[in-house]
Amino acid sequence: MTTKDGSTHKLWGGRFAGGPSPLLDAINRSIGTDFRLWPHDIRLSTAWAGALGHAGVLTMDESQALQQGLERVAERLAGGAQPVATDEDIHTMIDRLLHEEAGSVASKLHTGRSRNDQVATASRLWTMDACQRIDAAIRDLQESLLAQAETLTDAMLPAYTHLQRAQPVSGAHWLLAHFWPLDRDRTRLANAARGTAVLPLGSGAIAGSAFPVSRTELQQALGFASISPNSIDATGDRDFVAETLFVCTMTAVHCSRIAEDLIIYGTSEFGFVKFGDGFSTGSSMMPQKRNPDVFELARGSGARVLGDLVSMLGTIKGLPSGYSKDLQDDKRALFNAVDLLLLVLPAMAGAIAELRFERGRMRAAVSSGMMATDLADYLVKKGATFREAHGAVGSLVRQAEEAGIELDALPAERFTAAHVLFGDDAREALSAEASLAARDIAGGTGPNAVATQLAAARASLASAETRGATELAR
Ligand code: ARG
Repeated sequence: MTTKDGSTHKLWGGRFAGGPSPLLDAINRSIGTDFRLWPHDIRLSTAWAGALGHAGVLTMDESQALQQGLERVAERLAGGAQPVATDEDIHTMIDRLLHEEAGSVASKLHTGRSRNDQVATASRLWTMDACQRIDAAIRDLQESLLAQAETLTDAMLPAYTHLQRAQPVSGAHWLLAHFWPLDRDRTRLANAARGTAVLPLGSGAIAGSAFPVSRTELQQALGFASISPNSIDATGDRDFVAETLFVCTMTAVHCSRIAEDLIIYGTSEFGFVKFGDGFSTGSSMMPQKRNPDVFELARGSGARVLGDLVSMLGTIKGLPSGYSKDLQDDKRALFNAVDLLLLVLPAMAGAIAELRFERGRMRAAVSSGMMATDLADYLVKKGATFREAHGAVGSLVRQAEEAGIELDALPAERFTAAHVLFGDDAREALSAEASLAARDIAGGTGPNAVATQLAAARASLASAETRGATELAR
């Protein structure tokens, strides 16, 4: 198929007397972004050629000629075929290559379809695949966190609220606090993949194809879970892009929080963790520097992925029903976010695997004042109300602070003066080990509860393997 002057390959143009302005070509051209859709476009075009044949719209010979031609086009693309200046988008390029490979029968492939249902289908196929890849990458990061957590069951460090020392927790408990958000991300991802697996092909430009093609056949050939119920909706619907971007954003936000903990805990002031050589950078000026760039870049990436989500929602908002060219921009946002996340997740997993935890520094940061709650609980167990106990322990904390000593260094008589129920064993309540041991409640930081949690994390990772392989696709 050629235009009037025979020099360029276009999918449209017959109704125009004049050719397009180079300025239109420049703003309209999307092949720089959508080139990567080619394997999916080939797949759906092959299925479409088959369905046209089975519906009797094309002869079986024509259908086969198209399918064989598409196979050769795929070989050329895999072999590095590059777009030419007039290839508006990947669909146009494949159509051009198909004419070169299959000859005039290529002009029959677009029967009953539009680039509107075509691009929606290709983008969904790409997204279904991307969800699998992201799922595997999240899983690797979880594996890295879990492996470190398993080595930290007997390590202890302060947990912080308001970034002020709050209560002692097990090292494993702290690291697992970053495991579970990623677990939720994988569930969200499976949901997004499910929402994506709805086939738009057969919707045509907006009203549905006028040829009796079996959409069920297409659905099965392409691995979709169902077919779209409304052609207007199907061609203009980019919910699946927004949902996938939301999951990407949530995951990136979770990565940024892991990164922030590690950056803080890696400062000389904290000194809980040392960054490995493979994931640290130096300074061009200060020879002593070991910088956690991976974690800083991961933290920064959250902003970029969030930007992609917001721009996509902004694009969809207020669009009239059906396809509008604004939607061409969905792929830029989606590809940017997925590419970035697929850089961040493996780098985080690698950097976390190389971390060295400084157990001595972690333990030393746990001071007896952090067991003030345990001391109040001691009074409660002896019969005081919690309010009353809180006041008595508060006064002891103030006295220790005024004397410039730790809570457990206050003389025994101060305790009995603060509350009659304090006995000789009061100081035992200030033991950090006892504080942890007291918290074996489900989800708590007690040693048995943490062991149960570690087992649950392992099990979730194992069962999530099934979630990755099958649940995502269906
Ligand atoms: N490149 C276009 C996109 O990505 C393909 C669909 C074009 N449809 C159209 N009616 N011009 O959205």
